[in-house]
Amino acid sequence: MGGSGLVVRDLSVGYGPVRALRRVSLEVPERAVVTVLGGNGAGKSTLLRAISRTLSFHGGAVTEGGVTLGGRRLDRLPPDRVVAAGVSQVPEGRRVFARMTVADNLRAGALGGDRSGRAAALGRVHELFPVLAERAGQRAGLLSGGEQQMLAVARALMAAPKVLLLDEPSLGLAPLMAERIADTVREINTQGTSVLLVEQNAALALRLATRAYVLEVGEVTLSGPAAELAASDEVRRRYLGVVDEDAAADAEQTAATRRTLTRWKG
Ligand SMILES: Nc1ncnc2c1ncn2[C@@H]1O[C@H](COP(=O)(O)OP(=O)(O)OP(=O)(O)O)[C@@H](O)[C@H]1O
Ligand SMILES: [Mg+2]
Repeated sequence: MGGSGLVVRDLSVGYGPVRALRRVSLEVPERAVVTVLGGNGAGKSTLLRAISRTLSFHGGAVTEGGVTLGGRRLDRLPPDRVVAAGVSQVPEGRRVFARMTVADNLRAGALGGDRSGRAAALGRVHELFPVLAERAGQRAGLLSGGEQQMLAVARALMAAPKVLLLDEPSLGLAPLMAERIADTVREINTQGTSVLLVEQNAALALRLATRAYVLEVGEVTLSGPAAELAASDEVRRRYLGVVDEDAAADAEQTAATRRTLTRWKG
């Protein structure tokens, strides 16, 4: 399996008798943002768990295929060694240690390493998320949903990963907060980390990514440059909520009228 980035080749996964992924292949080149779109139950989280080697915590197992990073196999390593190899996951549902302080949550994300390395990582996440420096001594459970998502991302960054796996970071966040998370993903990527972003919010994901894959019932059904997918009728209809051109035009018209009415009222 070649490729200098993260390469997933012919990966199949089962949870007992349930087949969740069937021969999924994808690639996250170095310094790229790649997105995987798909509805509920498509297998998005399963894919990330298979890469981070956390499937067994959920009763799942890889039945065929493999994962490499820079040509090195990850698919026989325990989860902590995957992190050490350069792949950190932000799991679904922004799990933070609610009773621990923000600072201790971040400390938990720093995997070994020397003191100066940890200090540099902490400086970097505080720069990305100043609110986490302000709230360092506060219990994580008291943060807002958006701030908890920032903490979950920051914790993953404490391991200074080459590849960040993000599982639906915008889920349940208000549009403005989702935009802030998107800006942060862009910034993290600019600083040299590649990102595999799993999203139901296709509009947001396709804006961030250069390449996209569509996962349906455990199989990749479509892939290509993000801009091309964003323009395809199928993706527009199924993932961007565009019913058809006329309906879309009507909706726009209605929205425009409403905007005008609102202005008049003011
Ligand atoms: N722990 C588990 N045990 C058994 N089956 C599971 C488990 N987790 C997921 N599945 C099944 O595997 C399939 C893929 O689920 P997965 O959670 O990966 O989907 P998803 O794309 O992340 O969905 P969502 O958008 O709802 O998060 C589904 O059919 C789901 O029911
Ligand atoms: Mg999921």
